[in-house]
Amino acid sequence: MKRFILFAAAMGIGVTAATAEPVSPMQVVFTDGAVEESLTGVAGDPVAGRDVFANRKLGNCLACHMNEDWSEQSFHGEVGPPMDGVAERWSTAELRGIVANSKEMFPNTIMPSFYRNAGYTRTLKKFEGKTILSAQQVEDVVAYLQTLTYE
Ligand code: HEC
Repeated sequence: MKRFILFAAAMGIGVTAATAEPVSPMQVVFTDGAVEESLTGVAGDPVAGRDVFANRKLGNCLACHMNEDWSEQSFHGEVGPPMDGVAERWSTAELRGIVANSKEMFPNTIMPSFYRNAGYTRTLKKFEGKTILSAQQVEDVVAYLQTLTYE
């Protein structure tokens, strides 16, 4: 815990032991579709995020979004825009917002909302895990998306 707080301080994130729990889905604050605050206060892992992106049981993003990184894969989708250069089109906060709840950015999109649970105003412990992705998996996939630049 001490190391985590030091890390958070180094990152300039105002995290204290009291707020180290992930932000619950209903408490995520959207500003024009973007989410400024990390959901966990822990930096995303792009390698884990790449797995979330392709894993059918997790993000399954690849089913709709193609990008150069996956050009060898035969099952990639073209329902959504290609992810190449996505880090240059959107800020980190916007990417986090799109992944957490795409409807905030694209009101009628068919893209699933990955960090929402059905209308509970208060997430009780026993309802946790009802989102498609965990808070950290959202951070991880956002970290992966941030690696997708045009050279
Ligand atoms: C069922 C198909 C589908 C899935 C699954 C899906 N998306 Fe999307 N996504 C879309 C569509 C369609 C859009 C275009 C927005 C719209 O509807 O206007 C989009 C838009 C986006 C955008 C904005 C892209 C841009 O260039 O403007 C990002 C970023 C994104 N998706 C990331 C993801 C990630 C990450 C995942 C997995 C965690 C994911 N998507 C899963 C369909 C999907």
